[in-house]
Amino acid sequence: MTTKKPVIVYGASGYTGRLVCEYLRELGLPFVAAGRDAARVQAVMNTVPGIDSADYEVVGVEHDVKALTALFKGAKVVCNMVGPFIKYGPDVVEACLAAGCHYLDTTGEQDWLMDAKARYSDAFAAKALLLSPCVAHMYTTGEIAANIALETPGLDTLDILVLWKGFPTYASTQTIFTILKAKWYYLEQNKYVAWPIDAKIEVSVPGQHMTTLALPWGGTSHPVWFKDDPRVSSCKVAGGVFAREVMEGVVGMTKMVETDILPLPLAEQEVALANMAATVQASMPPRENPRLNTTIDSVHASGPLARVHCILHGNCNYKQTGLLQAFAAASLVQQAPQRVGFASACQAFGYRSLLGALRSFGLVMKPVLTVHD
Ligand SMILES: NC(=O)c1ccc[n+]([C@@H]2O[C@H](COP(=O)([O-])OP(=O)(O)OC[C@H]3O[C@@H](n4cnc5c(N)ncnc54)[C@H](OP(=O)(O)O)[C@@H]3O)[C@@H](O)[C@H]2O)c1
Repeated sequence: MTTKKPVIVYGASGYTGRLVCEYLRELGLPFVAAGRDAARVQAVMNTVPGIDSADYEVVGVEHDVKALTALFKGAKVVCNMVGPFIKYGPDVVEACLAAGCHYLDTTGEQDWLMDAKARYSDAFAAKALLLSPCVAHMYTTGEIAANIALETPGLDTLDILVLWKGFPTYASTQTIFTILKAKWYYLEQNKYVAWPIDAKIEVSVPGQHMTTLALPWGGTSHPVWFKDDPRVSSCKVAGGVFAREVMEGVVGMTKMVETDILPLPLAEQEVALANMAATVQASMPPRENPRLNTTIDSVHASGPLARVHCILHGNCNYKQTGLLQAFAAASLVQQAPQRVGFASACQAFGYRSLLGALRSFGLVMKPVLTVHD
């Protein structure tokens, strides 16, 4: 099959895929909603607000390079929602390359970013295609805040906090646990340094008196993006959900992973982590509510002669992710990205444009900026 629709949403039956389709419809973009079970995808599409006015079709597809390539041919962009991406991403990336499509996903997995960059960046660049894993609230919104802070010259160090209020979805929980078998890195003087597995960080949260507990959260995407940025030499990130009890639970499980799971052979580790994740989240969380599901992306940027603090208060991190994907897809359908090969959303589309998109849909407030220089 050769599609005439420019955008494919793969994993459209999931919580995030559905939101990407919702925003593609709002941006007026025709799309294919694809997944391993066409009936399930159609059932989910039927619940997307205003779907009767969307230009879309539903396609069922096997998760293998050949079948995915056949589906992607004729499209311009693939939004991949099937995670954990370290496990399912390579087949989709290879199919994009074979079909000549730009690749976007929603990962926050640092090991997948590093792997995708090392294995596929040059091949994508040679075809003038974008390879952009992690077009998502975690961590594009924080990257926007970092870039606003870096408008002040003379800053070289980023201290970033990313928090959100809500429940992770099934695949998000699987992903959070999958990251536990990888090493996590921060950036220190342009070199990757591994976090200790039991690292936890007490953080002060902008806008409230109580502190909370955050974790390196798998290292995050920022160190990988800023590794090759001449402005930045050091970058450390803390993240998680606002609820302290949830974070304490994750710390407890991390300890158990270290003692009981990491000594197992790799294949057994995967099964044990997936089972552990399934005990935490097996169902679909409710649709987000901006009054309940708030987000904070806070960046302290410093250098010898300047200090800047940029905060982006927002809401509905899954909706932010859906919109960022749809906006990136719409941009790629209309014009070439600012970079090809491996690049972050801000590098490919510009942080001010991405901020504008989030602001125009009411998902983030105006940046709160404090500058001392
Ligand atoms: N960085 C961020 O801020 C951010 C935000 C949102 C999501 N994410 C990531 O995005 C991913 C998806 O999240 P979600 O919220 O949409 O999760 P979800 O609701 O659990 O959906 C997962 C999707 O993947 C599909 N899938 C699962 N296993 C598959 C397989 N073996 N072959 C083909 N398709 C498969 C599911 O299809 P079925 O319906 O057929 O099971 C479903 O469409 C996760 O990795 C999550 O961590 C990241």
